[in-house]
Parts: sequence; structure tokens; C-alpha cells
Amino acid sequence: QCGIAVESRINCGCDRSLSRADCEARGCCYVPLPQSGLGGPPWCFYPVRYPGYKMGPLLPTEKGQRATLARSAPSYLPRDIPTLQLDLMPETLGRLHLTLKDPASPRYEVPFVTSQSRGHKDIQNPLYDVDFQPDPFGFIVRRKSNGRVLLNTTIGPLLFADQYVQLSTSMASSVISGLGEHYTPITLDLNWTSVSLWNRDMASANLYGSHPFFLVQEGDGQAHGVFLLNSNAMEVFLQPAPALTWVTVGGILDFYIFLGPSPQSVVQQYHEVIGYPMMPPYWSLGFHLCRWGYTSTNITRTVVQLMRQAKIPLDVQWNDLDYADQRRVFTFDLQRFGDLPRMVEEFHQLGMKYVLILDPGISSASPPGSYKPFDDGLKRGVFIKNSTGQILIGKVWPGPTAFPDFTNPTTQDWWTDCIRVFHSKVPVDGLWIDMNEPSNFVQGSVDGCPDSDLEKPPYTPGVIGGQLNAGTLCVSAQQYLSNHYNLHNLYGLTEAIATHRALLKVKSTRPFVLSRSSFPGLGRFSAHWTGDVRSDWEQLRFSIPGVLLFGLYGVPLVGADVCGFGGDTTEELCVRWTQLGAFYPFMRNHNDKPNAPQEPFVFSQQAQDAMRTAITLRYSLLPFLYTLFHHTHSSGSTVARPLFLEFPTDPDCQTIDRQFLWGSSLLISPVLEEGALEVTAYLPPGTWYSLHNIPSNKIESLLHIVFKGQYILFPAPLDTINVHVREGSIIPQQVPALTTTASRRNPFTLIVALSVGNWAKGELFWDDGESLDTFEHGNYSYVLFFAEESYVVSKPVKLNGSLDGLVLGEVRVFGVRAPPTSVWANGQKVHDFSYSQDTKVCNKRFILIFKMC
Ligand code: NOJ
Repeated sequence: QCGIAVESRINCGCDRSLSRADCEARGCCYVPLPQSGLGGPPWCFYPVRYPGYKMGPLLPTEKGQRATLARSAPSYLPRDIPTLQLDLMPETLGRLHLTLKDPASPRYEVPFVTSQSRGHKDIQNPLYDVDFQPDPFGFIVRRKSNGRVLLNTTIGPLLFADQYVQLSTSMASSVISGLGEHYTPITLDLNWTSVSLWNRDMASANLYGSHPFFLVQEGDGQAHGVFLLNSNAMEVFLQPAPALTWVTVGGILDFYIFLGPSPQSVVQQYHEVIGYPMMPPYWSLGFHLCRWGYTSTNITRTVVQLMRQAKIPLDVQWNDLDYADQRRVFTFDLQRFGDLPRMVEEFHQLGMKYVLILDPGISSASPPGSYKPFDDGLKRGVFIKNSTGQILIGKVWPGPTAFPDFTNPTTQDWWTDCIRVFHSKVPVDGLWIDMNEPSNFVQGSVDGCPDSDLEKPPYTPGVIGGQLNAGTLCVSAQQYLSNHYNLHNLYGLTEAIATHRALLKVKSTRPFVLSRSSFPGLGRFSAHWTGDVRSDWEQLRFSIPGVLLFGLYGVPLVGADVCGFGGDTTEELCVRWTQLGAFYPFMRNHNDKPNAPQEPFVFSQQAQDAMRTAITLRYSLLPFLYTLFHHTHSSGSTVARPLFLEFPTDPDCQTIDRQFLWGSSLLISPVLEEGALEVTAYLPPGTWYSLHNIPSNKIESLLHIVFKGQYILFPAPLDTINVHVREGSIIPQQVPALTTTASRRNPFTLIVALSVGNWAKGELFWDDGESLDTFEHGNYSYVLFFAEESYVVSKPVKLNGSLDGLVLGEVRVFGVRAPPTSVWANGQKVHDFSYSQDTKVCNKRFILIFKMC
């Protein structure tokens, strides 16, 4: 019974450390190991077939099958749930849905998140098989095609008590990505680690969001994913078996299992459940500039002027809390920001946009009658209450604050009104919702929290501060839909939904919201940034997995604060960060109050040139980036993509997170080390053309034909970020400008990267960049591009007028086999063309550049 391999021991004391006597009292095995029990394999673990629930017969239901599970004896936990209902719902060929809940009394369930297609019951020949072990209950999910066991929960007991729910499973491999938000590489460490999911404002640790989803690479190019739809505080224990144990302190077990089989299809299947991401406004893909410490409109204006003088593109200027009167949201300081409305108008005249910060905490200390958001909110009953029904007061930037309860429909109306009134004075283009874990500078509330089972559950996952109410609200606080204990992890998401809806009503254009806190489904409403990162090289490196993982989580519009937020940056770090940031889907330079300035124009001419080059390169690629966003919005995919998604059978790609792709065609290999002037980058098999961002007449392409993926050392002087175009792709670009308003009027260009077989293809999605639901209403243009050795053609699939007046200015073809003698465009001979021989190839290839007549 106790003869279990060390790496497969399932800890019998997930909730607390146990002495031999305590362990044996639980009916568990106690076998000490030479090394310390702390952090390594447990000494106290469950024996094989530890008693649990017994499963009754499976009976058909409308959606699948149902069985009742019953305990014959109580577990060691308080308030056991003796009977459970299991529902098995095959929803699509690749998606299985399985729930375990209490049939006798309804428990809290996540009130929204899952969207659209619920699938159907009669799935013929799905990709999975499910088997059950009836006593003690467990289930096994297999990939039907090869019999591989993906999940096996018989390796440990199912425990289901009021405030403690536990389930273990084996894993099909050790290559697992997900369970964010944490500061991690792209794959998780399974060496007896654990991750907690409880949203928390914690600088440099990235704990702002919760994403109980993971993707497993099975090792042969196939992958599957698992989503546990549960918003309670959770800890997931990982061990080398490989195996994993979920422990959550409430709710139900609501699993979605995605069979892929490719990693891309796992992501797509997950996004089908949580909802496809929103289509961002085009301008939000431009460069954003912010800092805490632009203390007046004049300073903010100067920043914009200096950016323009430096000729560095800038679409969106931001203000942090500095604008607000006594840090109270929905006000602006009349001394320093008195002409804020005029400043915003001026930015609009320049073709720019303006965003400012909005914290959820509403100051509760202003004299009655002097601060409408609070007075109105009070009247309309929108604030979260404590367990005895009074408004819960915490402390954030403005001092004492009340917290809107965004699960209450009345709050939506009040929030929309606040935004409408403010917008009528200050016509902001988007809103930045910060501190929405929610963050609280006192523990729970200014009056503390009651001594209750909610505040002090029998088991508290490993959260910083040791208590659920640390750095946030009392979890016994009451919200419209449930208590904060259940709803805490949804606070940021609910605020994002309310803010998105308010902007939609007030502006009737595509909303732009940037949220720090997140939960599955956020990407339908908001962008995300990775919070308070330090200005150092380590955080620069970790920003890549941070951004890539949010792509898996369905939040593709994501980036880290370029040049870092905390601490002084250095010129070199800021240049390298700007180069990498030029390839974050969301690019914003943002800085903390006490730090040295880090706007591009404060650095040397050489650094400014390098930053301008990187940002300009981004601007030239925006049509391509926008088309990628269209795909993720219309069918659930990723924009910034880990290599393993694109090259799933290449074992070298499984864990790469120092490089990434845009879509399937651009490989980005940034410098991430101080002092480095070269970068070692992995090129997966194929032909890659390096794209040097020097002016078009000097464009140079180095061709690399890689038969077996390989690491190659590339030069990377300070003005260079290595970007490679994958063979077979056509990248639509546009001549850059200082804003997207201007660049969107410029000629398009194409990069055609011929494959070894001499073909390439690409596409362009184009619309007005800001109207609502253009894809859904068919209000867009869509053009396909094809190339073969001697020609490039475009095939408009759909035209709606959005491309009218725009021209294709130039085409660059990489990999032409022989120097062309003549070039024709639209039936006319072109005289303005050039070609050069690729310097690096022995079997000659040429680069042809021609201007369209
Ligand atoms: C915390 C945010 O993470 C940071 O970006 C912001 O500057 C400060 N709050 C001040 O608003």
C-alpha cells in the first residue's frame, strides 16, 4: 500500500505538515526520507486506493451522462460533502466537460466566463475515451488515437469538503505551460513546487491574475489542455512523477479538457470556451508613453513635443494618477491639470490618442456633497459591504476608499454614468484600470475583518501574507452575486467588463481598456500589462514568457512596461527593452515616480536612433500585426507565439522563451544580456531571411537555410534586433509615420519571402480601425497574396472601401533564383527596380525590390 515511488507520492498533508501520529490518524503512509520533508517529496502520503467516494451507475442525461458518488466514511476534513454528482459532457470532438458538485445544496459556481458554443451531446468518435474507477472514484482520460493516458485521477483521492476540494492527476509529460499569473519561464518547474492562484498586487512577482489553465506538450507534437473553471483561492502542487494536485477552497470542480491534438488547436479550443479576444482599435497597436510623475499638463505636453522633435512615433500619451485631484478618480487637479480637456484636444489634433488611469477605489472621505462618484454610489448602493452590511472601507491612493461591486448591475449603470460625465469634460480614448485585484493598503478593511471560517479557512493556499485578506478586502465582504471569498479573483475581470461596456456606450467605438488584474475571459474586454516590473535584465528576459503565456490565456494585447517600471533603467537596457517591446503586442514605456526619466528622447543620439529604428520597424509592420489580431479575434489563436506552437514536433522548441514569433512568419530574437552585441538564436528547420531594419534602398537580407533546427550566432549591434522572416510568407507592411493616423494613409509594401519551392503567401485584414464589430458586420476588406518564382498576385476576397485611395508602393522579393531581366507590374514594365545578390548564399539567391507604377 505504501510502496509508492518517491516522485509519485501524493502529499497527504497539502493543508498542513503532519507528524507521524497525525499522518497515521489520516490513514496515510509515513515514510521519512533522508532529506528534509520541506519542499521535497512528502513523508506523509496517501496509500494506494485511499478510501474516497464510491461511484454509482452512469445514467444518460440530456448533455451526456451522470453518476452519483457517495462517501462511505467521512474524510479527515471538516464539513465533508457526503454525496456528489458527476456530470460527463462530451461537448465537441476535442472537448470534454466534466463537473463534480453537491446535488443536495447548490454551491458557488463561477457566474460567467464561459461563452458561446456549448457543444452537443451526440459526439461521434471523439478524440478521447474516459474510464472510471468506481471505488474509490477516479477517472482516466485517454487520447483515443494512441491510447495515451492524459489524466488519471486514481493516483490520489478526491476530497470534497465545504472549504477544501482536492484532486490529483498524473500528467502525460513534464512539459507544462500555464497556471498563471506568475513570474516563470514558459514551462513550469515540476520539482515539488506549487503555484497559488489568488489575485494580488505584488511588484515583481506578477500575481495580479489567476488562470487555472495549462497546456501539456505530449512529446510527439501533440498536446492537450485542462481548464478548471473555479475562481476560489487555489493552490496547485506539481511533482516530478509527473503529477499535479489541485486544492481549491470552494466552489465546484468544473473541468474542460481539450484534446488538441496540436498545441495551436488546444489554444483555440480553450478560447472557444472563454471567448475569443476583442478586436483592438488600430491605434492601440502604436507606441504608448506614460510615467507616474507627469505632474502637469504642461509637462505632459512637453513630452509629446519632445517625442515629435525626436521624430519617434507616438500614438498614445498617458497620464498616471498625477492628473487627479487628491488622487480621486473622475476628477482632475485644477491647478496643474486645469486645461486637461484642451490638452487632450490638442493631442487629437496631432492624430494622437489619450488614456488615463482609473483606480477602482472610490475616495470615501470627502465631505458629503463634494465628491459625486462617492455620493451617488452610496445612494445607489454600489459598494461592497462588510459581513455586517456596512460599506467596507479600505485604503488606497486617495486614503479611505470604498470598492464598487461590479457584479451588481446597478454598479454598471453608475460606473457608466461616472465615465460619461468625466468623458464629457475630458474626451479620453481609453481607460487604464489599475489596482483591481483589488489592492488595499490595509489588511481587509480599516476596521479589520471578522474572525470567521471565511477569513480563516481550515486551509489557506500559499499566499503572500499568509491570509486571504492580506493586501486586499475582507473575504467575508458581501457582493451582489456572492461573498468576496468566492468572487475575489473575478474583481479585475468584472471591472474590465464594466469599463468596456461603459466606453462602448459613451463612445460607440471599439473600447480600449488596460487591466492589471485578470481571469479567463479578460481578453474579450481588455488588454493587460505585466505590472510593476523592475528595470533590470532578468525582468526583461522574463517578460517574454509573461507575454507569451497571456496569449495562451486569450489576452493577446499584452506587454510589459518597456524599460522597466521599478528602479532606474540604463541607456543600454532601455534600448534593448525598446527593441523587444517593439514586438510586444502592446507597447508602452512606463516608469515609476522616483526614477530617472526613460522617454526615448532623454538618451544619447545613438540610443534615440536605435529606439526610433525599432519603433519605426514596428509601425511598418502594423498591417501584419493587425491581421494577426483579426485572426485571434475571429477564431482564437495567438499573436505573439511561443515557438512550440508553430513547431510542435521540434523538441528544441518545447521550452524556448528567449525568442518568439509573430504569427507563423516572423521570428524575433532580441538581445537579453547586458553588454551583448551578438545573439545566439535558434532557427527551426526551413529557410529564414533576416530582416534588417535599415532604410529600404539599403535593405539587406541574409538567407539561412536550416535543414535541422540549429542555434546560430547573429551580430546584434546596439541598433539591431534580429528578426527573421519565414520562408513561404508574405508580410504586408505600410510606410511608417509618427502616428498610425498618418501611417494608415501611407502606401503599403510587401515582403515576399520565397520558399525553397519558390512560393509564398500572405494576407491583409483592413477596416477603419475603430468601428465596432467590423468583422461581424462584414465591414472590412480582406486580401490574399500569392507568389511564385516569377510573379506576385493579390486576390481581394472582400472589399468594402476601406482600402480605397491606398496604394501598394513597393514589393521586396527575397530568394529570387536568378537576376530578373525585366519586371512588370499591373501590366506595365517597371523601370524602378533593383536587385542584389544575397551575400551569404552559395547557391545564388537574389533580392528583388521594385516600386509599383
Ligand atoms: C501601480 C501600477 O502597477 C503602476 O503602473 C502605476 O504607475 C501605479 N500603480 C500608480 O498609479
